[in-house]
Amino acid sequence: MHLAHLRLRDFRNYARLDVDFAPGFHLLLGDNAQGKTNILEAVYLMATLRSFRGVGSAQMIRQGAKGYFVGGKVVGQGEAEIKMYWSVAERNLSLNGRTVKKLAEYLGTLRTVVFCTEDLQLIKGTGRVRRRFLDLLLSQTQPGYLGLLQRYAHTLRSRNALLKQRSLDEVALEGFSRELVAVGTEITRQRREIVPRISPLARLAYRRISNDAEELRIEYLPSVKKDFAVELAQSRARERSQRMTVVGPHRDELQLELNVRSAAQFGSEGQKRSVAIALKMAQAEYLTGLHGSAPLLLIDDVMGELDVKRRSGFLPLLEQVHRSRGQVFMTCTEENWPRELGLELHRWRVHAGALKA
Ligand SMILES: Nc1ncnc2c1ncn2[C@@H]1O[C@H](COP(=O)(O)OP(=O)(O)OP(=O)(O)O)[C@@H](O)[C@H]1O
Ligand SMILES: [Mg+2]
Repeated sequence: MHLAHLRLRDFRNYARLDVDFAPGFHLLLGDNAQGKTNILEAVYLMATLRSFRGVGSAQMIRQGAKGYFVGGKVVGQGEAEIKMYWSVAERNLSLNGRTVKKLAEYLGTLRTVVFCTEDLQLIKGTGRVRRRFLDLLLSQTQPGYLGLLQRYAHTLRSRNALLKQRSLDEVALEGFSRELVAVGTEITRQRREIVPRISPLARLAYRRISNDAEELRIEYLPSVKKDFAVELAQSRARERSQRMTVVGPHRDELQLELNVRSAAQFGSEGQKRSVAIALKMAQAEYLTGLHGSAPLLLIDDVMGELDVKRRSGFLPLLEQVHRSRGQVFMTCTEENWPRELGLELHRWRVHAGALKA
């Protein structure tokens, strides 16, 4: 799969951009604040409908403009034309000329894995970041998962709102509890299944990129141990005092350990960074295995920070992408690493919101 064309209008510092990309390895070179990361952000946005910078759409509109347009042509087994427009008043997403009504039918059109400095939050951040990692992976691979997540979030919000009221409506609570249990049990089941699939990939990736001999272990710690309905009922006293739902997949954790010690608490900065990269590599390899072709790799900055040993750990993944005629977009301020790749490179100069070959 590759992105054959990218079109931007009033997106970040790009007033207008139209560019064709071949399959292969693209290097986006330029000084700071020229628009390198913005390109990756636009591609990621088309794939996931979110920014990897964790910001809302309004911030991505070019200053002074009304709305942004991001579009492109994806070539995989077939061709797909993506168009997205976003403004405060109006938003539209279309695939091959038809407005997308169900997100589940759209996601998967373009598959990406991003490597960026924010990934460190996978280790340092709260459980929410790690749940989001699992959820993205599941929505990229399991049809229907996104729908479950949306239903769960919606029900949880309603249930929590109810718990905050002065007099509790027991009948309504019962209804929300039943829905929460049904949807939540399925979410837990799917998370429980996917973790052992990516865990060995992450362990191998960590070994490839770390200079150390630690063993990376990933374990899923579900909030619900056995039976959601029973545990939810048992938590009634606690939820009454805290006025919110205290058990359920919104409290799940993904435990990351190096030699049986928490990576967050005991890992060095370098080790944490390696764990983050290993998780992303596992994601990419898992997607490649599942679909038979590699996702687009969007690599922002991180390479510059890696020593030679860690970089060489990346090579097998890059070669995999190359073999399946995939695509890699990598930003850097100076060309300081892919020499060792030996692959042909497409070089782009990024300057003040413009791209030049
Ligand atoms: N909504 C916006 N409207 C206009 N310009 C924006 C907007 N958001 C960001 N910018 C501009 O985009 C530029 C930053 O782009 P980007 O983050 O892609 O830089 P970069 O080339 O990746 O730089 P670095 O090497 O520092 O990471 C800055 O000049 C910033 O002011
Ligand atoms: Mg950048």
